Amino acid sequence: MALVELGMPGITGGRRAVPDGAMPDVVLPADRPRTPGLVDRFGRVATDLRVSLTDRCNLRCTYCMPAEGLPTLPRDAVMSRAEIARLVGVATRDLGVRQVRFTGGEPLLRGDLVEIVRDCAALPHRPELSLTTNAVGLESRAGALRDAGLDRLNISLDTLDPDTFATLARRPFLERTLAGIDAAAQVFDVVKVNAVLVRGVNLDHAADLLAWCLERGFELRFIEQMPLDADHTWDRAAMVTAAEVRALLGERFTLVGDDEPRDGAPAERFVVLDRSTGRRLGRVGIIASVTEPFCGDCRRTRLTAEGGVRDCLFAHTETDLLGPLRAGASDETLADLWRTAMWGKKAGHGMADTGFTQPERTMSAIGG
Ligand code: 5AD
Ligand code: SF4
Repeated sequence: MALVELGMPGITGGRRAVPDGAMPDVVLPADRPRTPGLVDRFGRVATDLRVSLTDRCNLRCTYCMPAEGLPTLPRDAVMSRAEIARLVGVATRDLGVRQVRFTGGEPLLRGDLVEIVRDCAALPHRPELSLTTNAVGLESRAGALRDAGLDRLNISLDTLDPDTFATLARRPFLERTLAGIDAAAQVFDVVKVNAVLVRGVNLDHAADLLAWCLERGFELRFIEQMPLDADHTWDRAAMVTAAEVRALLGERFTLVGDDEPRDGAPAERFVVLDRSTGRRLGRVGIIASVTEPFCGDCRRTRLTAEGGVRDCLFAHTETDLLGPLRAGASDETLADLWRTAMWGKKAGHGMADTGFTQPERTMSAIGG
């Protein structure tokens, strides 16, 4: 039998194949407890799964992809609809995962997205299902996604200005994104909007974007830019910090810290009040992944589009599940490979450490 090495070196292309018909032996680290869930050495339990459905995208956001795009995976290297349902089934039934978020690249580029949602909604231990999307092409599918069982969605929108959108996303698709958001708002009770602020590009648009979201009842969350861009231009000194966003929004609105427990959620939430009347306008979230990391409370586990477990966005290793699955591994074996992968999760992303190196994969190839 082939031994599947747990914690492979960073993958830059292709997937490691398990030799023909070979079944992996699961190597259990001696100190790993035999508990059913996805626990790690620091006592965290992962109950929130992010599944990347594709590494492809129709935008080229500067903080994520290079202008010319990235080499894409061959189709047969990407998990099929049935393989996704199988692994999500293992996660929810055997590993205690309760929330599943589909990401990309851009998940709407999968023609079978609605079916994937339907399959996962039909699982016996049905997880809460959500989607992160840029909303290009969502207009025609929002209703079908809702009907298939999608519970929530997060839409990425960094600006309402068409030229700035075209500069940031390197594609002139603002209209299509807005049409997608409109369609989503018709059928979903909760629409969350994610924005990344880039100095000199859309920083000045932050308050306008918040006003626009508040008028429509959307919860906007600003995410600090992380070093996950293909061009490796991220600069800690130049990035827009959460503290800066709070100060900037404070010039136009009154922000009051929200008392609700964060409960593992990465966003620090604020209630937004009108500055002159004190009227409550809604909420805003700020995700300070870089300056105020929340790794100690992380509940995430990730699957790449090629069916590899990543224990962190910033991991340098992955554990292949798709190879063993295709070689005939049982659910029990897959669950054990997954548990062992998560047991090795580091305490934090270490971005502030001198030895920090950016992962080989970009956000588009991991899934946000
Ligand atoms: N830093 C922070 N957020 C990012 N996203 C993509 N790349 C980065 C990055 N380098 C966001 C997208 C989207 C979500 C999937 O992650 O804007 O909202
Ligand atoms: Fe595509 Fe999202 Fe990356 Fe933008 S951030 S290029 S929408 S994957």
